[in-house]
Amino acid sequence: MTSPLRLGIAGLGTVGIGVLRTIRRKADLLEARAGRPVRVTAVSARSRQKDRGVSLDDYAWEDDPVALARRDDVDVYVELIGGENGPAKASVLAALEAGKDVVTANKALLAHHGQALAETAEAAGRVLRFEAAVAGGIPVVKSLTEGLAANEVTRIMGVMNGTCNYILTRMEGAGLSYDEAFSEADGLGYLEADPNLDVGGIDAGHKLSLLSSIAFGTQVNFAGVELQGIGDVTIEDIHQAADMGYRIKLLGAARLTGRGLEQRMAPCLVPANSPLGQLEGGTNMVVIEGDDVGQVVLRGAGAGEGPTASAVMGDVMDIARGLRVSTFGQPATQLTPAVPAQAATPAPYYLRLHLLDKPGAMARIASVLGDAGVSINRMRQYSHAIETDAAPVLIVTHKTIRASLDEAIDAMTQTGVLADSPLAMRIEDL
Ligand code: HSE
Repeated sequence: MTSPLRLGIAGLGTVGIGVLRTIRRKADLLEARAGRPVRVTAVSARSRQKDRGVSLDDYAWEDDPVALARRDDVDVYVELIGGENGPAKASVLAALEAGKDVVTANKALLAHHGQALAETAEAAGRVLRFEAAVAGGIPVVKSLTEGLAANEVTRIMGVMNGTCNYILTRMEGAGLSYDEAFSEADGLGYLEADPNLDVGGIDAGHKLSLLSSIAFGTQVNFAGVELQGIGDVTIEDIHQAADMGYRIKLLGAARLTGRGLEQRMAPCLVPANSPLGQLEGGTNMVVIEGDDVGQVVLRGAGAGEGPTASAVMGDVMDIARGLRVSTFGQPATQLTPAVPAQAATPAPYYLRLHLLDKPGAMARIASVLGDAGVSINRMRQYSHAIETDAAPVLIVTHKTIRASLDEAIDAMTQTGVLADSPLAMRIEDL
C-alpha cells in the first residue's frame, strides 16, 4: 500500500464539516482514484465542544491552527478559516514554511496576498491550491490552469456571488424590495458575516481577480477591480429592465487590452434569454473565451457544503495523485504586474434618474449627455407619487464609453435638477 496522504483541517464550519463527511463516506472511492488512502489526522476550530453532527474522536485536536499547520503527521494543510489576515494567513505561511502543501477556500486571503503566498509556496517547492475559493463547486480554476492551458484567454465573465444572484432573482420573481430580499437571504444564512462582502461586490471581485491572474498571466490585482455593489438596484430598475427584455445580474468581466487589465464587477443588464440571464438563485456561472476553444460556459452551485467540499477535495485529490500545478498556472515569479485600465469597450448603458418636476429639467439632462458625446437611444419618464416632486426617468444610451458617461453624470449632479444620485448600469449584449 502506498503511504496515505495526511490532512490537517483548520476551520470546521459548513465547508470543513463537508470535507470530513466526504472523506469518511468515500474513503474507498478516494483511495481507488488517488492510488493511496486520504486521511485526516488532525483538526482545529474555535470550539472543541460545539456539536457539529460529526464525531471528531478519530482526529487529534489543536486549538491553534498554526500548531496544526506545523504538525509532523500532516502532509497537506487545509485552511477553511477565512479572512484575509489573522490566523488564516499566519497558519498558511506556517504550513508552507514547514514544508506542507496547502489547500484553501479563502478568496480574500489570496486576493490580497496571493502573489506573496504563491512565491513563498513555489520557493519552498510546495503547492498552494484554491479551487474552492472561486465559484463554489465549479472547477473553474482547474479548467483555466489545465484544460484550457494552451489558449490565449480573451475574456472572462461571470456571476460569482450566489447571494447577490439570489437577491436579484427574488426581487424579480417575487416582487420583493431590495431590503425584503436581503432579509430573506439573511434568514436563510446566505450572507457573509460582513454582508457588504456579498452585496458590495467585494467577494465576487476577489474571485474575479484570482481568475484574471490565471487567465492573463498577471499578478493578482484586486485593487484594480472596478467595484459596484447591488445595494442601489431597485425593484423599479428590475421591472424596467424586464420591460426591455433584460435581467439585472452582478456580473464580473475581465480582459487584457493594450492599455492594461480591465476588471470590473458591477450590476449589468443581460438579455433575459441568455444563459447568464436565465441564471436563478444561488447558482454561479463563469464564461471563458479562448482563442482556440471559443466560448466555454461553466454553471453550478456557488456555495454550500457539498459543492464547496467537492472543490476542496478536487485539490486534495490532485496532490494525492502527485499532480503539481503552480498556484496561478505558471511560476509566480513570472507573472507580470497588472496595470489596471478602466473598461473602455463601448456599450449601451441604462441610466436611472429621479428628476425634479420643473420646467427645463429634462432639457438640462439631455444637454449634458449631448455635451459629453453620449447619444440617447430610448428615454421614458414615469409619473411620480403626489408626495414627491421627483419623476423617475429611464434613459438607454447608444454605445458609449464609461468615461463619457461618468463625465455626463458628474455634470448632471451640478444642474440642480436631480433628486438623488443617478444609477448607471452597463447593458451587455452577450
Ligand atoms: N458568499 C458567497 C456567495 C459564497 O454568496 O456566493 C462564498 O464565496
